Amino acid sequence: MKDFQFYNPVKVVFGRKSFEKLGGLIPTGHTVVLIYGGGSVRRTGVLDRVQSALGDHPVVEFGGILPNPAYEKLMECVALVRSTPSPFLLAVGGGSVIDGTKFIAAAAPYGPGDPWEILSVRGKIREALPLGSVLTIPATGSEMNNGAVITRRQTREKLVFQNDQVFPRFAVMDPTVTFTLPADQTANGIVDAWVHVLEQYLTYDVETPLQDRQAQAVLSTLLETGPRVLAAPEDYDARASVMWSATAALNRVLSCGVVTDWATHLIGHEISALTDLAHGRTLACVLGPLLRHQVASKEGKLAGYGAAVFGHGFEDPREAALAAIDATEAFFHSLGVSTRLGDYLSDQTLLDEIPQRFTARRTTLGERGDITPDDVAGILADAW
Ligand code: NZQ
Ligand code: ZN
Repeated sequence: MKDFQFYNPVKVVFGRKSFEKLGGLIPTGHTVVLIYGGGSVRRTGVLDRVQSALGDHPVVEFGGILPNPAYEKLMECVALVRSTPSPFLLAVGGGSVIDGTKFIAAAAPYGPGDPWEILSVRGKIREALPLGSVLTIPATGSEMNNGAVITRRQTREKLVFQNDQVFPRFAVMDPTVTFTLPADQTANGIVDAWVHVLEQYLTYDVETPLQDRQAQAVLSTLLETGPRVLAAPEDYDARASVMWSATAALNRVLSCGVVTDWATHLIGHEISALTDLAHGRTLACVLGPLLRHQVASKEGKLAGYGAAVFGHGFEDPREAALAAIDATEAFFHSLGVSTRLGDYLSDQTLLDEIPQRFTARRTTLGERGDITPDDVAGILADAW
């Protein structure tokens, strides 16, 4: 097992009555800046429930943060926050809103440079505003981690930052709010959580049997409950398990002491940067081709994954590894998610543009850093 540090200060308030606790989670004396997405929370009544739960806290609202949250839009909120006395940021939404709120929290006090530096050159975050989250879609784990992924539309970049100062103070998680999710968003979230687990698990063995079994437990739970929530969107217990599984997939417990990968995510981010395709779908398309490309170095873990999660019993390790990849894609298909980029996109210029971007940045990917831009070109061609 590798050395590791683990820190996670997020208070999770989970369940049907979690909204009732919201007002008490925010210290008095703050103005709540209530930040939300494209309007689903208004349609579903979540915004009304949040507002009444906030009681006497003064509130200002900022809506309109769309999926793959845009730096340009977030900077409008930074201006609002800078003119708000003692702001406490409350993200009500999914990964896009929570990530956007993390950026706003770090960007508002940032200076003297442009806050984009936080993403482009790892500009130092000296302080961040306090934030909390009310989660409406299980997928990213952002509600319980310190990372955010922000897109700059003008330059078509999608970049990540991580900082302990942007951990949410709390995550309010009521599975009933996920009853209103459209099937495609539900499925995208399950795929995202699945790939988060795989990118912390399917690398090479450094003798981490606990972490391997924790990863398998999250996957087995998603395999069982994912189809249930699609068949019965108001199945509370299945929704609760999907929600908690997605959080468990990226609250960094699974990263402890293991070797991680993240190549599928980094290629996926480039696809979203260029096309605005939903995050989960980019992953669904890239994962299989990437794993087939890496099958020699991931064979042992892939075979163990197939046996533990899909119940496979192949003798030959290569056959076992390839069958595990096929079963993964079959699971995504069963959720209604295509694994072909060509089913979502028509412009093939990204097949050249993404490898060129990695070349320009001198980026190689994967747990061994051996996935070159040429390899990425092959993976993307297979994903089309
Ligand atoms: O915008 P609204 O109108 O609210 O609608 C949203 C959005 O269209 C809708 N939705 C959310 N909750 C709903 C609902 N519709 C009905 N009922 C509800 N209860 O769902 C759509 C997708 O929302 P979004 O927040 O974009 O989804 P997700 O949580 O998948 O977030 C994706 C973003 O997170 C980043 C991704 O790159 C992407 O930008 N990620 C963040 C990570 C992190 N911070 O750790 C890690 C991930 O790997 C990922 O990169
Ligand atoms: Zn993801």
